[in-house]
Amino acid sequence: MIPQEFIEEVQQKTDIVDLISGYIPLKRAGRNFKALCPFHNEKTPSFFVSPQRQIFHCFGCGKGGGALQFLMLYERMNFVEAVELLAKRAGVSIPYQRSSPKDRLKIVLYEVVEEASRFFHNNLISSNEGKKAKDYLHKRGIDEDTIKLFRMGYAPLGNRVIGYMRKKGITLDILEKASLVVAKEGGGYSDLFRDRIIFPICDIRKRTIGFGARALKDKEGLPKYINSFENPIYNKRNHLFGLHLSKEEIISKDRVVVTEGYLDMITPFKAGIKNIVASLGTALTIEQIRLIKRYASRVTLVFDSDKAGESATLRALDLLLGEGLRTEIVRMPEGLDLDLAIRRNGVEFVKSLLDKRVDFFDYKIEMLRRLYDVESIEGKAKVAQQMLITISKRTSEVEKYEYIKKLSYILGVKEAVLFSELRKEEKEDRSIRRDTALSLERKELVPIAEKIIIKSMLANKKVFSALKNKLNADDFSHFLSKKTFVSLLDKAQHGYFTYSDFLISTEDSAISSFVSEIMMDDAIKIEKKTLKDCVTKLKKNRMKVIKEQLRDQLRIAESLHDIKRTKELIEKFNKINSEVRNG
Ligand code: CTP
Ligand code: MN
Repeated sequence: MIPQEFIEEVQQKTDIVDLISGYIPLKRAGRNFKALCPFHNEKTPSFFVSPQRQIFHCFGCGKGGGALQFLMLYERMNFVEAVELLAKRAGVSIPYQRSSPKDRLKIVLYEVVEEASRFFHNNLISSNEGKKAKDYLHKRGIDEDTIKLFRMGYAPLGNRVIGYMRKKGITLDILEKASLVVAKEGGGYSDLFRDRIIFPICDIRKRTIGFGARALKDKEGLPKYINSFENPIYNKRNHLFGLHLSKEEIISKDRVVVTEGYLDMITPFKAGIKNIVASLGTALTIEQIRLIKRYASRVTLVFDSDKAGESATLRALDLLLGEGLRTEIVRMPEGLDLDLAIRRNGVEFVKSLLDKRVDFFDYKIEMLRRLYDVESIEGKAKVAQQMLITISKRTSEVEKYEYIKKLSYILGVKEAVLFSELRKEEKEDRSIRRDTALSLERKELVPIAEKIIIKSMLANKKVFSALKNKLNADDFSHFLSKKTFVSLLDKAQHGYFTYSDFLISTEDSAISSFVSEIMMDDAIKIEKKTLKDCVTKLKKNRMKVIKEQLRDQLRIAESLHDIKRTKELIEKFNKINSEVRNG
């Protein structure tokens, strides 16, 4: 948790016009600035930035909020990352002493791992014992620049990390937590990485969080790679090797090449294939896929041919498609991985391999055909079922039809049969899609009275205090105003929140867009008299809804001849009517 006062301080030191004009050109337009919206395609500007209110809003696509929301959208950051970037920009340091013990431990671990990385790197580039490691890397075609860029290192023999860190006053307990040492069976500790090449693993903010370490010789019984164990700052599910260096290129190409090994990322990157990451030796996790999705919508998966056929690969494929990522696959020729292929055959050869990527459909069906006998009935059914799961993840009907045609041809099963099976598969998905369609529709219809009330509460402390007890969530008919009201009350429990306080405390983009819209829209005026009318209107609407519900229930109770329930409902109904008269 970042303390609220700190976020406020950062916010105060940030000027939104200054921030946004660092990304896109802004033009003055009266009291505001305008620009072509960076979040959707448009020819005339509907993106506005207000220096007075310190908010932005696009009246075209509806996106909006404060400085934090801009960074979250533009830099594809999460809330904490955005706060940290603003802090850095404003030259404010994060208040460590105010953070929790767990956060404090993490801060120490980041520093220790960083220190270890420096130690390993210096050992590689300037020590005598590092020479054989350097020779090894040179033999594998890795030059000085690459060593520096990736900050590769060498972990010498013995317990050198322990010795080095002791001089810096770092305890063994911390070293163990940072996964740099391991406890020995007979007691005591030893270095985890010994006589190995070190590949630092970084997060997207370029902080070193762990290491992969390769043996200098391929010896039987010796693990080729040893990696940091999971610890408070390193969870391999959440990270992709090399992403901190490749993310710009991934965004601009809107495509990421996903490979498995450290060197299969490094060698292509140096050779000019820069939109590349490695999965840290596991099948892609959903967390890694969501990370990818922040930067690109298209994925090229590269597999060594000997490793294909794993069901983990197929699972990753469905996960990728399920997240809406366009996924294609490259199967490497026998005995080659990306690193070897580039060194043996050159980068142009590898580029042409990458261009020959196959659609997920061709890849998956080929794999299934090796697993099942498509001549048999059971085999056909199994393959059809597996393929339909994947096809149902596509959004375009045209695409689906094309895939069904292909599948029908391959399996010798009628298209119509496959279609009806596909519809069954889709049933679940459709209910989800209906929900989003519904909320989009409702977006147009936030009643003006509800907008005025929320705007007034955010603009005026007195109004806020007066209304917070008078209204309740169900008085709002629209999910956006309701959600905003609930969140505002929740956050402002111990005081008052202006819209800018509110914006810096909300991570919900639907809420921040709604708030920026009503704050920016001068047609939504705040006047005492209108406000009163609005409250009355909300209350009246609410009554109407309740009465309608009661009437429905009454009708049902009557038709069931449930006399007890009917009586109860009539009583309720009368009570409400008298309340309305007296209140
Ligand atoms: N890996 C691992 N632990 C192992 C073996 C492999 O973590 N014992 C991970 C590493 O990230 C490695 C990737 O899986 O880079 C791919 O493994 P492999 O193909 O065996 O190694 P390469 O990357 O080809 O390594 P090299 O070219 O150095 O032999
Ligand atoms: Mn290799």
